[in-house]
Amino acid sequence: MALNVSVEELKKIRTPFYFYDMDLLDRTLRTVKTLSDRYGISVHYAVKANNDSRILRKISEYGFGADCVSGNEVLLCAENGFCGEKIMFAGVGKTDKEIYDALKTGIYAFNVESVEELKNIDAMAAHLGVRARIQLRINPNVDAHTHRYITTGLDENKFGITKEGFKGAVEAVKNCSNVDFLGIQFHIGSQITDVENIYVQACRKMNEIVAEIEALGLEVRSIDLGGGLGINYEDPDAELIPDFATWMKTVAENLKVRSNQVVHIEPGRSIVGQCGSLIARVLYVKNGQKKNFAIVDAGMNDLIRPALYQAYHKTENLCAEAEGRGAGKYDVVGPVCESSDVFGSDREIGLTERGDLIAIRSAGAYGSVMASMYNAKHFAQSVYSDDLASAEKQIDWFTR
Ligand code: LLP
Repeated sequence: MALNVSVEELKKIRTPFYFYDMDLLDRTLRTVKTLSDRYGISVHYAVKANNDSRILRKISEYGFGADCVSGNEVLLCAENGFCGEKIMFAGVGKTDKEIYDALKTGIYAFNVESVEELKNIDAMAAHLGVRARIQLRINPNVDAHTHRYITTGLDENKFGITKEGFKGAVEAVKNCSNVDFLGIQFHIGSQITDVENIYVQACRKMNEIVAEIEALGLEVRSIDLGGGLGINYEDPDAELIPDFATWMKTVAENLKVRSNQVVHIEPGRSIVGQCGSLIARVLYVKNGQKKNFAIVDAGMNDLIRPALYQAYHKTENLCAEAEGRGAGKYDVVGPVCESSDVFGSDREIGLTERGDLIAIRSAGAYGSVMASMYNAKHFAQSVYSDDLASAEKQIDWFTR
């Protein structure tokens, strides 16, 4: 168990809750800062992974930029320390209000996904009397070899402009009088573990695309490779800080970059994934005919990744580990009325008793941000390792 807080302290807190190890987040950010400075890469944190205000503030303190996919993410970033010039705004369906807010915030660039959107941004910039900086989001048709729901750079995905559309897009940019073209962006997918192989391909593809766009008459000054670095869900403690070194080295060695060009990356999961755990309390241990169930008070409404992507999250019984209890095997399930409300099947988590705390690890990315109030459940609170005192306490209803 690598949460670095005593189980007794955690037991006092009202469950379920997201626990964030702020020291690990700091160490991760320091690693990213050192490497990005070394390789001259500009980092824009993908806010969609986790938009918690304390987390955003910490990330912005390191001077990183932000990659946003909604107007509200842009506004949240501006409120939490990111300066406008470091904010990018992507997404296939930007509304007029979102474009308006982003132009007013004075963001670094819109990542434009279609000619139709480009014309709308141009018109709105004209209306406001400002200039809009843009990068064209390209669909590179590179297979990221990841879950089909989180691969984004294939022709069959809805994202970006495909090869056939380059000429038309470049012409459209030239015809927009309120738009400044910065460069090219793409994102091939998420949870990429075959880092060297996939990013060598991505860089080669980017080199080709930059050359094609420049041949069509636009100067590319900004090259943005998106996010995607995977994390170790099976054994988080073996790799609490993901392998940013291999990622950035691969990018630096394979991308052709001139001195007037800036390289950007947009990591989300790799920054915040390992610092977060969902902590749940065991309500009941139910011994079935074929299986034993540990029924906990967190559900798919709090963390939907296992139900949605069949994603694996390591589960640990913190109390059994602390007391050195023997082995037990359980399906760890939530209270929601859906058969898919399962955090893990046949998990060896130590002999489990009512009241034990279960940690569902690697939940810092795409955890709380994808939560819902399904079954009229409340959102789980966020608890920070450096501020346990302000967490809401568990109520003992037997003493009421
Ligand atoms: N940039 C763009 C344009 C993206 O679409 C994404 C993620 C990122 C950056 C950040 O990618 P990361 O470094 O986090 O892999 N909900 C899914 C993940 C969806 C990712 C969508 N795009 C999950 O829980 O696995």
